[in-house]
Amino acid sequence: MIKVFSLIGSCAGERSQTAQLSDRLAEAFRKRAAEDGETVAYERLTAAEVRVDFCRGCCNCFHRCFCPLDSKDDMGMIRQKMRDCDVLFFGSPVYMGRMSGFTKCLLDRLAGDSHRLTLLGKPMLQFMTTESNHGLEASEDLEYILRFFCSALINVGALYRVGHPNLNDEVDMQPVLTETAEKLLRAYYDPRTAITEFQQRAFFSRVLMTRRAIRLGTGNSEAQAIHEAGFDRYVLLSEAIENLCMRKKESQ
Ligand SMILES: Cc1cc2nc3c(=O)[nH]c(=O)nc-3n(C[C@H](O)[C@H](O)[C@H](O)COP(=O)(O)O)c2cc1C
Repeated sequence: MIKVFSLIGSCAGERSQTAQLSDRLAEAFRKRAAEDGETVAYERLTAAEVRVDFCRGCCNCFHRCFCPLDSKDDMGMIRQKMRDCDVLFFGSPVYMGRMSGFTKCLLDRLAGDSHRLTLLGKPMLQFMTTESNHGLEASEDLEYILRFFCSALINVGALYRVGHPNLNDEVDMQPVLTETAEKLLRAYYDPRTAITEFQQRAFFSRVLMTRRAIRLGTGNSEAQAIHEAGFDRYVLLSEAIENLCMRKKESQ
């Protein structure tokens, strides 16, 4: 069973174009996975259903691997679902030419996770919806941030209500759905197929920082967490992912 968890940064609830796109992408993935005999469990949460407060800048996430807000809002629950799922969807509407405020707020709350590489190798799908413009800039901006998680990131880009590729035009939508489902399943089987040179460099720089902190005994809990996960034994992100997948398989 492949567990898909989708987080949608729109408060429009069931009317949300981005939530509806998420459902279509999940359905295309379910159909493609079924051809390989796999089943998919899909859960989606939108910004209308959860409370995620703004980061207060206390930096406890970096220094103590802990966010004091998690016990006050829904972020602890969201964080857990993100870690537990096999495939993560990130969808956002374009607001004022960039991702929605909710999406950015959520990403700020995940800064510690990005440093500790808690989503390393996880197949992650990003997509956006927009009325008529800024789809490219907004999805590049979101991708820029999501790359730091060193996950197997697939950027679907932005789908337009007016413009191309168009959300309401099946001729535009079918190839997007089919290609995305194919890429995602490949990333599920082997996350190394979806990592980039940038992610490799981001991973290596985190490894060097961790090794130095451990060697000098200045290791904060962030470095300790990476060390305990064993990621600092690797130079290549692909090797760290391979080892993680092997450990996951052994524990099943
Ligand atoms: C506050 C706000 C700002 C928006 N800014 C843009 C924009 O800069 N460019 C654009 O083409 N559409 C913009 N839109 C339209 C949305 O991106 C579009 O309707 C999107 O599909 C909404 O997704 P949702 O239904 O999931 O919330 C904006 C909508 C809102 C509410």
